[in-house]
Amino acid sequence: MTPDLMDEGARRAGAHRQAQSRAAGQTASGGRDAGFSRLHTPGEVDVTHGRILYLEGVNVSFDGFKAINNLSLDIAPGELRCIIGPNGAGKTTLMDIITGKTRPDSGTVFFGSTIDLLRYREADIARMGIGRKFQKPTVFERLSVFENLELALKAHKGVAASLRFRLDSAQRDRLAEVLQTIHLGAELRRPAGTLSHGQKQWLEIGMLLVQEPRLLLLDEPVAGMTDRETERTAELFLALKGRHSLMVVEHDMGFVQAIADIVTVLCDGSVLAQGTLPQVQADERVIEVYLGR
Ligand SMILES: Nc1ncnc2c1ncn2[C@@H]1O[C@H](COP(=O)(O)OP(=O)(O)OP(=O)(O)O)[C@@H](O)[C@H]1O
Ligand SMILES: [Mg+2]
Repeated sequence: MTPDLMDEGARRAGAHRQAQSRAAGQTASGGRDAGFSRLHTPGEVDVTHGRILYLEGVNVSFDGFKAINNLSLDIAPGELRCIIGPNGAGKTTLMDIITGKTRPDSGTVFFGSTIDLLRYREADIARMGIGRKFQKPTVFERLSVFENLELALKAHKGVAASLRFRLDSAQRDRLAEVLQTIHLGAELRRPAGTLSHGQKQWLEIGMLLVQEPRLLLLDEPVAGMTDRETERTAELFLALKGRHSLMVVEHDMGFVQAIADIVTVLCDGSVLAQGTLPQVQADERVIEVYLGR
């Protein structure tokens, strides 16, 4: 994504939203998005309205089955949001929509207040600063931990750049910092294939972190981890929030309890409840559909 393209995207997104607002006779978010004309640095996500991610009225059907049903949700910069809900609730589909893998039939999806994500392809969205971690680790098993991170950094710079690309000192510092963050500082020369499942997951998170994402989407990150690995992953996520915004889908309630600020409960493709974990745990409807009695 070049700054020019970002600029153009932001301009078109602004025009699009203004047209929508005019049509509706009001702003979609109750007047929170007052100033599209406000300048922000090109290439940066505009979070001056307090949201890094904003979805409103999103619908997705697969062969007539409504997987996402009038879903609205927003996330603040630096927030760590947990998404829970029964199998088939639409959690993974939500991530598919944000990352451009699935196109909604209708609705609004914005990154910051100016970037209309529905106008971009998957690769562009990743380059804009939305990193996604799928459930299964996909590291290069024969390469070392360090080489995996180096490759992720180069890939982010683009193919042409990677051919002539040597790490500068700032980038080497960033790799060293990420290695510490993901607890793999002592393993940097090990082939990734010899790491434990949990360590591979951390390495893959590290491969996203070297690209400095603003928003990280993590789908069931602790599935298959040992208790100790799960604890360390909770520490890792708590260390990441603030600097990054995180959306974490998990079924492991112990893990959710360790990291959660606000929890969103998804059911049948919409938000069923939202609040602190004790609040949603006490909600009768949530107990009914998900947590059990
Ligand atoms: N590409 C697709 N084609 C058809 N149906 C789909 C597709 N993707 C998802 N679905 C359906 O949409 C619904 C939501 O699926 P999704 O994978 O988002 O659920 P989830 O909340 O992630 O569930 P889980 O907790 O089991 O991972 C399911 O009923 C699923 O079968
Ligand atoms: Mg899923």
